[in-house]
Amino acid sequence: MKNKIKKILKKKNKSKIVCLTAYSKNFAEIVDDHADIVLVGDSLGSVLYNYDTTRKVSLSMMIEHTKSARIGVKKSLLVIDLPYNTYRNKSEALRNSKRAIKETKCDAVKVEGGTRVKEIVKHLVKNRIPVLGHIGLTPQTTKGKFRSKGKNESEKRKLLKDAQDLEHSGAFGIVLECIYSDISKKITNLVNIPTIGIGASVNCDGQVLVTDDLIGLNETNFRFVKKFGNIRKNIKDAVIKYKNSVKQKKFPSKKNSY
Ligand code: KIV
Repeated sequence: MKNKIKKILKKKNKSKIVCLTAYSKNFAEIVDDHADIVLVGDSLGSVLYNYDTTRKVSLSMMIEHTKSARIGVKKSLLVIDLPYNTYRNKSEALRNSKRAIKETKCDAVKVEGGTRVKEIVKHLVKNRIPVLGHIGLTPQTTKGKFRSKGKNESEKRKLLKDAQDLEHSGAFGIVLECIYSDISKKITNLVNIPTIGIGASVNCDGQVLVTDDLIGLNETNFRFVKKFGNIRKNIKDAVIKYKNSVKQKKFPSKKNSY
């Protein structure tokens, strides 16, 4: 097992795991210093390409963005999301994971689903591909409105089973997306691998957010997102200063000319 994964596993019940997305070199460089896991999520479909669903994201897109992120990631664990329809069966999942890892030099893959993908996860792990699971709200297979999971008893039971099946299949961690606090606590106490929450309360072993959301670059207003910065405004201010300097012939000055 990779040392970076061992380090992450050791954090369970000790210190919180920090996970952030990055889709390119500059973002990856910045978050790498502060994150345990850098995720090239297929959320890039909506964040960068304005897709209405992550189902439109292709493996080639994921690979190109991960190659860029790889340049910036030096110490964190770099995880690529396997996009929709790239892991429908064991051989497809293995072929595409091998391609992703070979072409990007990333450390692990993430797949959505619990019990449904347990045999696929087992197969990947058996073939030395580290896998991060993802249960609760799984955008690749959600039809219609996104909503939190684990409200009623049958959903709670399903989530617990999903988490256990992923652990038994060899996943090194599980992203819990939009799961009620009581059940994310139960899952976190039940499994021996770390849980990483997004909209799943402070009860998880770690947290993940889309970096573009938390810095205030992407305009979203999901309840689970907290804006820790207002980069959109900073960029706008710089662009306006530049525009005014150009119009007033203050830029380029002698200092910026040859
Ligand atoms: O695609 C993504 O960025 C994700 C995280 C939000 C967990 O799956």
